[in-house]
Amino acid sequence: KAVVYKLDRWNPDEKIINLAAEELRKGHLVAFPTETVYGLGANALDEEAVRRIFLAKGRPQDNPLIVHVAAIETAREIAYCDERALRLMDAFWPGPLTLVMRAKDVVPKVTRGGLDTVAVRMPSHPVALALIEASGVPIAAPSANTSGRPSPTDADTVYEDLGDRIEVILDCGPTDVGVESTVIDITEEKAVLLRPGGLPIEALTDFGETVLLPENLSREREINLKKRSPGTRYRHYAPRCKVLLWKAEEDWPKIRGERVGYMGIRRPPVDLGDDAIFFDSLENYARGLFMGLRYLEKRGVEAIIADYPEKRGVGLAIRDRLYRASLAEFDEKP
Ligand code: TXA
Ligand code: MG
Repeated sequence: KAVVYKLDRWNPDEKIINLAAEELRKGHLVAFPTETVYGLGANALDEEAVRRIFLAKGRPQDNPLIVHVAAIETAREIAYCDERALRLMDAFWPGPLTLVMRAKDVVPKVTRGGLDTVAVRMPSHPVALALIEASGVPIAAPSANTSGRPSPTDADTVYEDLGDRIEVILDCGPTDVGVESTVIDITEEKAVLLRPGGLPIEALTDFGETVLLPENLSREREINLKKRSPGTRYRHYAPRCKVLLWKAEEDWPKIRGERVGYMGIRRPPVDLGDDAIFFDSLENYARGLFMGLRYLEKRGVEAIIADYPEKRGVGLAIRDRLYRASLAEFDEKP
């Protein structure tokens, strides 16, 4: 069973950080908080250790991992960083932006899911940074959930999913952002959005970076995209009950004979008591999204009706997660 260490995020106990870093150097798995969600970390340069991540999560081998660094220098050791990459890092790191760049040979194939690119990010959580620094290696870390389940935004959820498969969990309470990082591919002239996330696209466009959104791409480009980011192919973020999207301008979905739960910003036309969760802003919706799905599932609802927010800001990421949670089957169609 995993050992759980509670840490003060602004003043983490150095002994515990060093102990966890030592576990990473030994090739073991350590779950740790980032500003987005909890990550399941392993030495990104150690093939065996990275394989353990895939095993623990039950993750498909072709779904590449994000490599976490605590310094831009380290990013340059594992990826070919051009001037634009460095500008983006300078502006948005540490923070919830992941950059997909051409990989250098030191990054094992398992880490990149067999691709010739690698995804890199520098998280802003002080404990994540301290741990990466102390380990002295780049850290591969997917979200610390069983593959396909909603991502964990607190340590209890990590324990629930992975407690008997990993060595250490660092517990710093709930995370700030609540949805994962924004992933963009910058290997071509125009940046391509692979996954909307905690950093709003508006922040990138305000910075002067044009980002191609999937719906602006031709059908052909879209298929290409799915090949490039294999993680976006599967049903994801899914509780063990149905998820129905309540879109703007749509009537409240009519469901007969099933216990229904709700989460969102708008008030539904029916009283669902404690099976309804309300958020007072898009940011708080993002923060509580994954916990909300797991909470309603535990309460025993058969279907969750989820407010499908506007595309602005972090709303784009919420829509993406809800949409994927709502898919009934694996989406393996081209
Ligand atoms: O906020 C986050 O990004 C969290 C925390 C722990 O940092 N991590 C996370 O990792 O969400 P994961 O493994 O759950 O999601 C990684 C995403 C997947 O959609 C994957 O397909 C994509 O990044 N990805 C990773 N490497 C890639 C690559 N070389 N090319 C294209 N997509 C890549
Ligand atoms: Mg994930």
